[in-house]
Amino acid sequence: MPVPWVQYVLDEPLSVYLQGPWSYIRSYGIYAGAAFLARKYFAGSTNTWERNMHGKVVMVTGGTSGIGAAVVEDLARRGAQIVLLVRSLSDEFTVDYITDLRARTDNQLIYAEACDLADLSSVRKFATKWIDNAPVRRLDMVICAAGVATPPFKERRVTRDGVEEQWGVNYLAHTHLLNILSPALRAQPADRDVRVILLTCAAYVLADLDLADFDFQKRGYPSSRPWRVYGASKLALMTYGAELQRRCDVYERPDKNPNKVRVMMVDPGLIRTSLTRRFLTFGSLFGLLIYLLTWLFWAFILKTPLGGAQPVLHCAMSPEVLQGEGGKLFGECREKKAQRKEVEDRGFATALWEVTEKEVKALEVRSTLEKKKAEKAEKVAEKKEAKKGKLSYMNMPGSPSEASRIWYKTFRYKLMNEAPSHNSAFKVYSLHAPVFP
Ligand SMILES: NC(=O)c1ccc[n+]([C@@H]2O[C@H](COP(=O)([O-])OP(=O)(O)OC[C@H]3O[C@@H](n4cnc5c(N)ncnc54)[C@H](OP(=O)(O)O)[C@@H]3O)[C@@H](O)[C@H]2O)c1
Repeated sequence: MPVPWVQYVLDEPLSVYLQGPWSYIRSYGIYAGAAFLARKYFAGSTNTWERNMHGKVVMVTGGTSGIGAAVVEDLARRGAQIVLLVRSLSDEFTVDYITDLRARTDNQLIYAEACDLADLSSVRKFATKWIDNAPVRRLDMVICAAGVATPPFKERRVTRDGVEEQWGVNYLAHTHLLNILSPALRAQPADRDVRVILLTCAAYVLADLDLADFDFQKRGYPSSRPWRVYGASKLALMTYGAELQRRCDVYERPDKNPNKVRVMMVDPGLIRTSLTRRFLTFGSLFGLLIYLLTWLFWAFILKTPLGGAQPVLHCAMSPEVLQGEGGKLFGECREKKAQRKEVEDRGFATALWEVTEKEVKALEVRSTLEKKKAEKAEKVAEKKEAKKGKLSYMNMPGSPSEASRIWYKTFRYKLMNEAPSHNSAFKVYSLHAPVFP
């Protein structure tokens, strides 16, 4: 025991020990304080509303990643019944994600439905299946959080329908989904408030939206300034949202009660998600290296996904957002004024609505014809192969590929049909949302 040292420590006045740290605090404290305040500013505001979500059915696009995933987790913890619209049900990630989410949130009412937003026929298939039910299925909220942003200097990407990807996924698919679902939204009981939340982005200010060429086919894709296209998809989505609100407002319910559908657009700010990462790194490995080296800077100025989820949660829970007119823009958990006049321009909104309907119809017809043509060609090729007697070993019963196909089918079957069992290897016993009257 170092008794002399202890004696020395006890004999010295406290100020001797504080001298060192205090001089540090005086020199650097101001910077630390400024950094703390700046980080608080960049982290954004927090939703302060609480809402019991038990029994509420919430449909979410983009709920598997980034902002959408943070929103889903919060709502699932509050007991909401979640219907995730995902690209595909067969991919292992979806199964694992839902299994983990159910366990983490202690909520078994989380389901997934296939609805690939890059394929209008997939959207129609899901949405018509949803509304094809009497009495109408319960639906309290639709959150459109899926989105894509093509990084600069990348080629124009197209959806399965051959339309520019950002336009197709961010705008066309969501409007297509909501248009088909809108009878179900309007037909909810009069005492139920129904919220539609559309995620937009500040980039809508930079939009270059031309109704005669909205996916930049005639003008040429601006790969050095892709935000013109991304922004256009968001500006169009906001204009559509405002118009959807107006159309719901003038709808006359059979029971003569007032409309309870409330459309809201949310600008979440700048968030550290895979979309932002892809954009900042220009979708390149070199860009990723630079991003990793400057990670602290980005971590400082960008919001976390949970931070980005706050304005969405505010719109999902606050009773204030139901006051006054709907179809408004929200950011930082409060109403904001849209900076582009198109959003409130009724003439423009009607024209956009009509052009969109025409485009969706044309794209669907074209895709269906192309699919049929491809199917026919495939059948002809199969017949030719069969005639030549060239049935490959890999397709024969008992072959390795046949075995894996059967294993996969069994796996799918178990996944969809097996009753809940703690011994089951398949913890997700059903991905499909049951019918909710
Ligand atoms: N990050 C930001 O700074 C920021 C800023 C303003 C606005 N926003 C908007 O916020 C929303 C969410 O963005 P995020 O940053 O969270 O992006 P993210 O992490 O990349 O998530 C995008 C989500 O969209 C889904 N998705 C993409 N294409 C799809 C398709 N064809 N079919 C079905 N789902 C599809 C993705 O599913 P997979 O997992 O299957 O790919 C994923 O769940 C977007 O609308 C975005 O425009 C983001």
